Amino acid sequence: MTRSVKERLLPLLSKEDYISGENAAEILGVSRSAVWKAVESLRHDGYGIEAVTNRGYRIRPDSDVLTAQEIEKNLTELHGKLKIEVRNTVTSTNAVLKEIASKGAEEGTVLAASEQTAGRGRFARRFYSPSDSGVYMSILLRPSLSCEKAVQITTAAAVAVAEAAEELTGRKTGIKWVNDVLMENRKISGILTEAAINVESGTLDYAILGIGLNAYVPDGGFPDEISGIAGAIFSKRKSGQRARLAALVLEKFFGYYEKIGSHDCLDAYRKRCIVPGREITVISADGSKPATALEIDENYRLRVAYPDKRQEFLSSGEISIKLL
Ligand code: BTN
Repeated sequence: MTRSVKERLLPLLSKEDYISGENAAEILGVSRSAVWKAVESLRHDGYGIEAVTNRGYRIRPDSDVLTAQEIEKNLTELHGKLKIEVRNTVTSTNAVLKEIASKGAEEGTVLAASEQTAGRGRFARRFYSPSDSGVYMSILLRPSLSCEKAVQITTAAAVAVAEAAEELTGRKTGIKWVNDVLMENRKISGILTEAAINVESGTLDYAILGIGLNAYVPDGGFPDEISGIAGAIFSKRKSGQRARLAALVLEKFFGYYEKIGSHDCLDAYRKRCIVPGREITVISADGSKPATALEIDENYRLRVAYPDKRQEFLSSGEISIKLL
């Protein structure tokens, strides 16, 4: 397949030194106006391209654009296997992908966005999703999995995010049961799995795995309501960093997903889970009660003990917890 001028120009602009339009045209064997058009088109895709008189063009070192090509470029095992689409702004990648799924899209369809105007969190909460500082990504899955085991999609994603963030930053992560990933006690990622259920078989028709990643602190900081709890994965903007993060999360997630139903990521989850041993508040439809968190069992339920010594296994669906 012949690559477009735009695709071939990208590596030339990604170097530290500027390249003149004339040089780029000569290397690519096209006219200067074709180079100019490709530069404009890349700008339209979100690349921050500097143009300096007598020096030429280059991509700003801190311009971190999120495109499907950039994600694809960073995939290894999954290269060419996913159908990735990136949009600048959507309401919610989960909501939009759900519509796409209901029209029969295949497993492995991925919709990512640089901004969500109505990002959804668990328990109908909003997920703050400002432009250019995060990765908001949904993955369509069609597993043969019973509904009780669906939580393993979320836990595999939490481990994938934790491992990817650790690998790219060298910093440690923690997981707050069941779906929050933390760095230095601040939430850097939230995961929301929404499923369509086949009532007759009791299995999943499909699942939409939604992963929100706070790559950077947004311009102007996080809003007051979450400024004490939200954090960012990276401290500095770098070109291509969000796409590398997205690709690594996908690689790691699908690595676990292949073996979903086994206990493949249980140890990795337990190792990072910050809840066992802590005093917590259990919040359910019946209200809130204090408890001590004991352990994560092999089905990712949280075993807790209440002050009256009664114990219970909590499933993530209806219950949330607050660490004290
Ligand atoms: C939570 O923290 O309660 C879960 C947050 C999940 C956010 C992600 S961002 C991508 C996907 N689209 C959404 O609307 N939500 C999920």
